[in-house]
Amino acid sequence: MHIFIVFSLFIAFTTLVENIEGKRVAICQGDRQTISCKKNRRLQIMTATYGLRRTRNKCRNANRAVSWCGKTNNAKTKVIQLCQSKQDCELFSSNRVFRDPCPGTSVILTVVFRCVRGCNKNKFQCVGNLKCIPKSKRCDGKKDCKDGSDEDNCTTVQCKSNEFKCKNGEKCIPITKKCDGYKDCSDNSDELANCPLKCRANQFKCNDGKKCIPNNRKCNGNTDCADGSDEASAICKIAGACGVQQIKPKLERPDCPKLEALRIVGGCDVRPPHSWPWTIQLRLNDADTKTFNHECGAALLSESFALTASHCFLSSDNPKDWKAIGGRHLKDTNEANNQARDVIKIVKFPNDGDNILDKDVAIIKFDKPMTINAYVTPICLPVREPAVNDECVVAGWGDVQETGNEDKLKNTVMPIVDTNKCNGTEDLKDQITPYMFCAGFQQGKNDACQGDSGGPLMCKYRNSWYLQGLVSWGVDCAQPMLPGVYANVFKFVSWIRNQMEL
Ligand code: ARG
Repeated sequence: MHIFIVFSLFIAFTTLVENIEGKRVAICQGDRQTISCKKNRRLQIMTATYGLRRTRNKCRNANRAVSWCGKTNNAKTKVIQLCQSKQDCELFSSNRVFRDPCPGTSVILTVVFRCVRGCNKNKFQCVGNLKCIPKSKRCDGKKDCKDGSDEDNCTTVQCKSNEFKCKNGEKCIPITKKCDGYKDCSDNSDELANCPLKCRANQFKCNDGKKCIPNNRKCNGNTDCADGSDEASAICKIAGACGVQQIKPKLERPDCPKLEALRIVGGCDVRPPHSWPWTIQLRLNDADTKTFNHECGAALLSESFALTASHCFLSSDNPKDWKAIGGRHLKDTNEANNQARDVIKIVKFPNDGDNILDKDVAIIKFDKPMTINAYVTPICLPVREPAVNDECVVAGWGDVQETGNEDKLKNTVMPIVDTNKCNGTEDLKDQITPYMFCAGFQQGKNDACQGDSGGPLMCKYRNSWYLQGLVSWGVDCAQPMLPGVYANVFKFVSWIRNQMEL
């Protein structure tokens, strides 16, 4: 009994008008009726009037026929607002909803509608002209529909300062959930809007944050980032663009015989100049003459750091007494590509024993970074111990012992000597610690000498040069059966890296 009453009430008040195109519906005062379209179709409201009765109808309380008594435009606007572009729409004929143009008369809501093709899923249908626009343009703060209906009924949620408002206005989410890789807004706007790009561990993120590129394309000479940041000098020097020179050395040439080249001792002029662009000159202040004079070599590790021999600072370890010059070829003449820097820090590797030549390594920091270019380029730190067959070269401005001019940077190839063998040589007997290694020729003739200290012994491995040793000491220079002794840089790599981070 109960159920029956409820059911019949439902039928009486919400008649479903389905799938009828161009259909006119008349809804009696106080009644509700749903107008409806098939799936994928949408309501287009042609006309809507309230209070105007042109046709006879069967409304119970429509006892008094009224002729036209005023404009009912407001009904059309209202119905359009309520129903247009929806699939179905419930209408309530009431003077609480529509303005009664003829007060006191009985009024009927008359609606003529069509069903038109709806927009597909990801489109929003403009209410006025029923155009389809991308859903993402709904509630984006810009009018995209002619009638601005894409901005109507947008939830205007107010978000707190620690919250992010979804672009579609549906809700606020904690700011911590924005760009966290999880979709919190149904439109995914929390993961799309200005999220910083995340790059994988083996990728480099361009400084503009717009692109990830593989690490091996960083500092390779080709610009991959739109802002050029993958090739910017500041990144490349830290990034390990090391040990590759733009000006390639020529070692085998008539004036530079492999075994008889003169200094260093038995070497030859570096040619072309600047082909060892990590070679740094250290000049020491002479208190009497107040001039800075050549004292040692060093090797550039980054724009602000160079490695040298600790014993170079026996005369002074006051940074103010030193100057470091990059881009140097001539020993005592300033040149266009020179970059002279003050030294602001000297850190000697802690040497607890009394043999100053054991652990003969120190790192210096410049007052301001060097500009990395073809003339000034860092060398790579070694990735393994030196080996007998390595292809190595030593360079320096040291004593040539009358084997040529002293005014230019000299170099010579320099084979690594097995440490056991070296420790067996009479004059070096058991003096070679794990922090050293020997390099030289059995017959002598080519060697580093006084003034070469701290300079690089560099070895080529897979097209890059590694700082395998630093000129450290020797018994005499270039004597047969007396190789030179070098600081074994590989033993100090982690210490060096730590120093460069401070
Ligand atoms: N101790 C020297 C210097 O301060 C370097 C000597 C290198 N000697 C040699 N035979 N490799 O410049």
